[in-house]
Amino acid sequence: MHTVTLIPGDGIGPEITEAAVQVVEAAGAPIQWDRQLAGMSAVDRHDTPLPDATLDSFRRNRAALKAPLTTPVGGGYRSVNVTLRQEFDLYANVRPALSFEGTQTRYGNVNLVTVRENTEGLYAGIEHYIKAEGKTIAAESIAVVTRSGCERIIEHAFRYARQTGRKKVTAVHKANILKCTSGLFLEIGREVAQKYPEIEFEDRIVDACAMQMAMHPDQFDVIVTTNLFGDILSDLAAGLVGGLGLVAGANIGREAAMFEPVHGSAPDIAGKNIANPTAMIIATVMMLDHLGEQAAARRIEQAVREVIREGKHVTADLKPGSICSTPEMAEAIAEKVRLAG
Ligand SMILES: NC(=O)c1ccc[n+]([C@@H]2O[C@H](COP(=O)([O-])OP(=O)(O)OC[C@H]3O[C@@H](n4cnc5c(N)ncnc54)[C@H](O)[C@@H]3O)[C@@H](O)[C@H]2O)c1
Repeated sequence: MHTVTLIPGDGIGPEITEAAVQVVEAAGAPIQWDRQLAGMSAVDRHDTPLPDATLDSFRRNRAALKAPLTTPVGGGYRSVNVTLRQEFDLYANVRPALSFEGTQTRYGNVNLVTVRENTEGLYAGIEHYIKAEGKTIAAESIAVVTRSGCERIIEHAFRYARQTGRKKVTAVHKANILKCTSGLFLEIGREVAQKYPEIEFEDRIVDACAMQMAMHPDQFDVIVTTNLFGDILSDLAAGLVGGLGLVAGANIGREAAMFEPVHGSAPDIAGKNIANPTAMIIATVMMLDHLGEQAAARRIEQAVREVIREGKHVTADLKPGSICSTPEMAEAIAEKVRLAG
């Protein structure tokens, strides 16, 4: 039995969390949930978006499934996502983008994974203004790229490729201009690649890569890149397969891992039971894979794909005019999971 910290989050979070819990139950996966608060729901009860009990639970269980959180505006609260990332050194953000048959997108053949460095680069938080005579005359930001940071993220990308039978790793950089920070990343990419001779290695300059992803996304397999480029390219990849409602990500460290949908708490549709639960269920699939529960993961993934392909029980974001609710879509997926069991 695996105990997993479950954070139902804010907005549509509780609705899609119930959907995911129902589907995991249908698969009979040996998961015990340790429900904890974070986000606005935690601010309301504990006056902090990240209570100690939630941190302790994640520290104990080392695996968490997190629904989206509404970022409190004002109040000086630190971002929960950033705090969790730093506290548990969740250095790898892994985001698969796979086309879904039955969705209305331009491409039917996308199957790529972005592996984004989550802790360094321009997001290291070293920024300041320069003032003269009481006026701000400039702003500076320092990108931090370390050898150890590059090694562990690039190693992660290659190990992921090896474990999942993927064939190619593309290192994305801007070493022609950012000769030090991007240059070091590329140099280490080439070094690490030597250890994985069975996996093809190539590098791309980030701007050209963005264009190629939009024109011929099928040429990419695993993309590994630094924090800022990864932030942008992983959203681009989500757009290629039908948007944020279908895509999930994992934040992985040496000791702990957290799984979540890519979208936010969607306050505009919260409480209406019309949210698409797919991204949250795919986050659960990634969590089950991580915990070694591959059989349950494959059954759930297959069921999600079939329900979307059939298009009978899908929410309105996937099929305009549909009146299918979140629980109805979840039940259609759970039913297929049970039948496959
Ligand atoms: N990981 C996270 O916790 C996370 C990520 C992004 C945004 N947020 C937070 O979420 C809140 C809302 O942010 P936002 O409005 O910019 O982005 P959002 O992703 O919540 O919503 C953008 C649009 O997509 C729709 N949408 C999102 N998920 C959907 C789903 N599952 N099914 C159907 N439609 C869906 C929404 O209705 C909205 O129209 C903010 O407080 C933001 O800070 C949290």
